[in-house]
Amino acid sequence: MKIEDVKMKTVFKIEGRHPLNGKVRISGSKNATVALIPAAILSKTGSVTIYGVPDISDVESLSLLLNELNVTVIRKDADHISIDPTKMRNIPLDHNAVTKLRASYYFMGALLGRYKEVRMRMPGGCYLGPRPIDLHLKGFEALGATVEYSQGSYHIWADELVGASIYLDIASVGATINIMMAAVYAKGRTTIENAAKEPEIIDVATMLNKMGAKIRGAGTNMITIDGVDSLEGCFHEIIPDRIEAGTFIIIAAAAAEAMTVENIIPQHLESLISKLKEMDVNIEVDIDKVTIKHSDSLKAVDIQTLPYPGFATDLQQPITTLLTQAYGTSQVKETIYTERFKHCIELQRMGADIQVNVPGCAIIGPTPLYGDEVKATDLRCGASLVVAGLIAEGITTISDIEHIERGYDNLDGKLKELGANIWREEIE
Ligand code: EPU
Repeated sequence: MKIEDVKMKTVFKIEGRHPLNGKVRISGSKNATVALIPAAILSKTGSVTIYGVPDISDVESLSLLLNELNVTVIRKDADHISIDPTKMRNIPLDHNAVTKLRASYYFMGALLGRYKEVRMRMPGGCYLGPRPIDLHLKGFEALGATVEYSQGSYHIWADELVGASIYLDIASVGATINIMMAAVYAKGRTTIENAAKEPEIIDVATMLNKMGAKIRGAGTNMITIDGVDSLEGCFHEIIPDRIEAGTFIIIAAAAAEAMTVENIIPQHLESLISKLKEMDVNIEVDIDKVTIKHSDSLKAVDIQTLPYPGFATDLQQPITTLLTQAYGTSQVKETIYTERFKHCIELQRMGADIQVNVPGCAIIGPTPLYGDEVKATDLRCGASLVVAGLIAEGITTISDIEHIERGYDNLDGKLKELGANIWREEIE
């Protein structure tokens, strides 16, 4: 192999068992941001300015796609961007960035809504088992669109979009938001029954309403959208990221002496907080922050992931690591992404006693964890390995950290501030 063929990659190295202390501030919600950015192109007049944008690579990928569409994106400050779609042109989205994240599918709803036509590649994202988008497409069809798929690309178009009653077989976050975006310019009224109720959906509906849309019922299982002729620019601040917050709360329960997680909406984290209390985690909830203090021993609990307000699938992987430190056997059942268990293989490598039996796993604890070379196979797997690295004896090397960087804003920087010994290294 020639020297120039050697490809370097960046890994996280963590020396575990340094107790964490202090405060951490949570960034804006990734899963809201990745929908708000495509939603901004629905403005026919004026820029949409979004505050609280996390510094994550998913935002970079979406910005590349906006540039493809001739939409100007200006990062005005560390955490706010201005999106000007007034000179937009609707071209096929076949840029590689489409395959970098699942949420590129929001351009389907947004471009279909705005131009009645969209051509784009199959969206990518973390592999969590099959992730169909049939409900999104059925929703577009119900509004009058035709969907064609050929050679890895979608072509979706309509002469006219007309409001319809749409029942979602599964309360899908993505389908709910995508249909909402496609329906804002449809003629008449659209109703989405069995809509997903995640806080990110309320955030997107709030921004679209500021732009002039008429969306009612977001956050309930029945959303009504009355079509309008034109949306305009607005200012919007993103809600805090409940999954980043949950990850730091779990980190605190695993590795902190005393740690405060700030800029959160505790109501969005109720299912996690009540599970942690059941485990005997010492947690104090305030209006917009929680404080976690070290507990001498933790109890095993059973967890079942469910749509909001149930236990979030995105926190299943990080909490699995915490459960390796609890006394007894914890049963985890995954009902959203039944194959989301790759992190267990990596945790086993570090000493965890986990039996995977898809769609669940049993975690027998407590077991000490030991630093090893592990792989962030997907975003939240990466988070679970960071939790593991912080409590493990010795040094943990986490590769494929680009998955972590897709969704966590400055994770290593925030952890360093709390006293963790985490650093980046370039390795072959
Ligand atoms: N589903 C279908 N057909 C569809 C759409 C969904 O069968 O057309 C199924 C999915 O396979 C899954 C379930 O419905 O079993 C729920 O999926 P949903 O559509 O709600 O998920 P999503 O919108 O693709 C978002 C988040 C995920 C998060 C899930 C569940 C974004 C960009 N992604 O995905 O976040 O796990 O909701 O809450 O918002 C992450 O942040 O790590 C992540 C994967």
